[in-house]
Amino acid sequence: MNFDAAADRRNTNSIKWNRDAIENISANPAAEPFWVADMDFFPEPHVQEEGRSLAGLGVYGYPSYPKDTSAVAAWVRMKHGWILPQEKIIFAQGLLHAICLSVNLFSKKGDKLLVPSPMYRPFRLIPERNGRNLIEHDLDYEDGCFSLNRERFEKDAQDADMIVFCSPQNPSGLVFSEDDLEFVLNVAKKRDIVIISDEIHSDLVHPGAKHLPMGLVNEHVGAKCITLFAPSKTFNIAGEHCAFAVLSTPEMQDTFEKAESALWLDEPGLSAGALAAAAYTKGFDYNKELCRYLGETTEMMRKYLEKNCPGMIMVNGQASFVTFIDCGTYYQKIESEVLGHPDRYQGGAGGGILSRFFGVAAGVAVNDGTWFGSEWKNFIRFNYGTSKDRVLKALERMVKAVKAL
Ligand SMILES: Cc1ncc(COP(=O)(O)O)c(C=O)c1O
Repeated sequence: MNFDAAADRRNTNSIKWNRDAIENISANPAAEPFWVADMDFFPEPHVQEEGRSLAGLGVYGYPSYPKDTSAVAAWVRMKHGWILPQEKIIFAQGLLHAICLSVNLFSKKGDKLLVPSPMYRPFRLIPERNGRNLIEHDLDYEDGCFSLNRERFEKDAQDADMIVFCSPQNPSGLVFSEDDLEFVLNVAKKRDIVIISDEIHSDLVHPGAKHLPMGLVNEHVGAKCITLFAPSKTFNIAGEHCAFAVLSTPEMQDTFEKAESALWLDEPGLSAGALAAAAYTKGFDYNKELCRYLGETTEMMRKYLEKNCPGMIMVNGQASFVTFIDCGTYYQKIESEVLGHPDRYQGGAGGGILSRFFGVAAGVAVNDGTWFGSEWKNFIRFNYGTSKDRVLKALERMVKAVKAL
C-alpha cells in the first residue's frame, strides 16, 4: 500500500468531505477536512476487491453467511494475543449500537455512567438519550500528557452504576497500561458494576506501544466486562457499521444475544459481512504497514510543532489517527481575533473558537476541543489519517495563522 497516495474523497458522499458539514464546524466551506474519524486511505486491496466484486455481481439479495466469527477470533489472537472461542464473539450493528444495547441491558433508568473525559461526543449523548446520568471523570492533563488518576477514578466511581471506558482513548490516543486496566477492572469488580470497553481504535496502535484488550486483562480479575471492537477504523470501512462484542460471563452473553435476536439485529448486512471477512483474513500486512505509517506521521507532526511552534503541543497518544493538540498558549489571542471579527468568522455554529479560527485563518477543518467536553476549549482534535504531505501542509498553514496573530 502506498499511503502517501490518499484517495480523493471529494464528491464521494463522505460526511468528512461534505461542504455544509465542514462549514458548520469551521465557518469555512472550503476548508480542508481533518475532522471526522475516518481515514482518506483506500482500504486493504483484498477488501477493495471484495467490494468491487460484490458491486459487479449486481446481486444484492439476502446473503448466505453462516454465523462464523472464526476469522475475527484468528485476528484477535494474532493481533492482541487474546485466545477466544469463536462462539464468544458476538456480531453487533456498529459499536455505538453495541454500547447502547449494553447500557440498556445492564443498567436501568436514572443510573449513573462514569465516562473518562475528554470524551467522544456520543458518550455524552448515550446517557442523555437513554435516560441515564453522566459522571464525567476528567483524565489528568499536564504539559501534553494525559493519564489516568487512579485515586480520583476510584473516588468518582463510588457513585457510578456502570463504567464506559474507551481504550485506546479517543480523542487523546492514549494507550492504557496493563496496571491501569487492571485497576479500573478492580474498581468495577469491587463495586459489582459492569464496565464497557470501547476498543474501536485498538488495532491501530503505533509501533512501540501495546494495546491489551480489557477482556483479556479481565481473565485474571473477573469483573463484569464487555469488550467491544470493530474492523471499521482498522480497515477504513466505517460506513458498514459492523462491530463485535465479547461478554465476560455466559449469563451476560445470553442476555445480549437474546436482546439482539429479539430486535432482529444479530446479523450483518451483505457488504458489512463480506468486507469484514476479507479484512480480517487478509488484512494483516496492510494493518502492520498502516500502524507504522501512522506512527511516523505522529513523529513528523511532533517534531514539526516542537521546532516551529512549541506553543502548540501534540499530546502523548500512541494510537489511531486522531490526536488532541493543546493550543492553550494561543487561546486568548485566538479568542480575541475570532470575537473581534464576527464578520470574518461568521457561521460555524457547530464548532468553537479554535475550530472556527483554524477553519477560516488556515483553511483547516478540525474538531473543536469543546466537542469533547466544555473544559477542553484549549484543544483541537486533528485527524492525521491521510498522506503525510497533506498533514504537513495543514500544520504549516495552522502555524502560520497562529504566528500572524
Ligand atoms: C471511540 C469511538 N467509538 C465508536 C465510534 C463509532 O462506532 P460505530 O460507527 O461502529 O458506531 C467511534 C467513531 O469515531 C469512536 O471513535
